[in-house]
Amino acid sequence: MPTKLIGIWGKGGVGKTTVSLAISRSLSAQGLKLLYLATDVAHPVSLQGMWNCKGEGEKIECGENMEALILGEEEVKRMWVKRFGKEVYEVASSFFPVEDWIIDYVAGAPGIADEFIMYYVWELWKNETYDIIVWDTAAAGESIRLLRLEKEFYEHLGEATRVYLRVKGSLEKIRRGRGDPLELINSWRNLANDVLKLLASDSNRSLIVLEPGAFSISVTDKILRELGSHGIPVSGLLINKVIASSRCPGCVEIENIGAEQKEQIKIAEERWGSELEMCIIPFIANAETKPEKIIDEVSHHLEVNCEKILKSI
Ligand SMILES: Nc1ncnc2c1ncn2[C@@H]1O[C@H](COP(=O)(O)OP(=O)(O)OP(=O)(O)O)[C@@H](O)[C@H]1O
Ligand SMILES: [Mg+2]
Repeated sequence: MPTKLIGIWGKGGVGKTTVSLAISRSLSAQGLKLLYLATDVAHPVSLQGMWNCKGEGEKIECGENMEALILGEEEVKRMWVKRFGKEVYEVASSFFPVEDWIIDYVAGAPGIADEFIMYYVWELWKNETYDIIVWDTAAAGESIRLLRLEKEFYEHLGEATRVYLRVKGSLEKIRRGRGDPLELINSWRNLANDVLKLLASDSNRSLIVLEPGAFSISVTDKILRELGSHGIPVSGLLINKVIASSRCPGCVEIENIGAEQKEQIKIAEERWGSELEMCIIPFIANAETKPEKIIDEVSHHLEVNCEKILKSI
């Protein structure tokens, strides 16, 4: 069975990590071999002391069927250099005389880590090691940039190379045994297209987590538009941290927040209810509650309230 990818998207702080781990716990408990993949390199997730997760470095085992892979900045850079360093050196050195410092220089360029993450997700998926990969993406702005980079970066690079070759006639240099930059750039571009194709295919399920608040709703709009523009379908909206005012009768602040949230949920339903599956996850009330406990409770609510969305996975 080909691996299924589940991408969890959403604004910062809405509960992407909580929901991703809750889904991972539920599905791995059903016996599916699962990888939880966290790619927010600027804010790596910690599973330290959670459940019985064991392992050093970025790869962690959490029970029989669940592994977790948490990518930090250094790790991504190291993997990128290993995979693309030599190719970049070949391309760069066919334009101008450089030494291999160029590899580290390019590896540190903005966008490169994001670029690599997309490729890495694709490669993990292609290896078919897992039944499911739950991909906890970085906060909305960052992950949307990932999608754009895939196309623009390579297209730009390809065009620049063609112009350069025409003007400088530097094919000669390339014939001196170095790689053909156009061919390499083309192969990178094909990889980029493969990643987008995967995201738009039936092997991918995209879920968006949001809070019942105006800002989160407008970010959701943006994510939907961006995913839509790449032909990436969304399987469901998970409205998280919903406060039930009935939990605290007579508490004015809670009642006010609850009423405001109700308004926002209505807006979400009017806007997307006819075309998208939606479900509600309550705010887990106790301020003392540890993340692990919140995740287990969210997992329970997902199974009860979001059954349809989970089934469609
Ligand atoms: N349903 C919930 N009830 C109560 N607290 C929650 C709930 N969902 C998430 N939280 C808490 O909200 C905080 C943010 O959640 P989380 O880290 O999952 O969000 P995120 O979207 O992954 O954030 P980031 O964008 O920073 O990665 C955490 O402290 C988490 O424990
Ligand atoms: Mg997170």
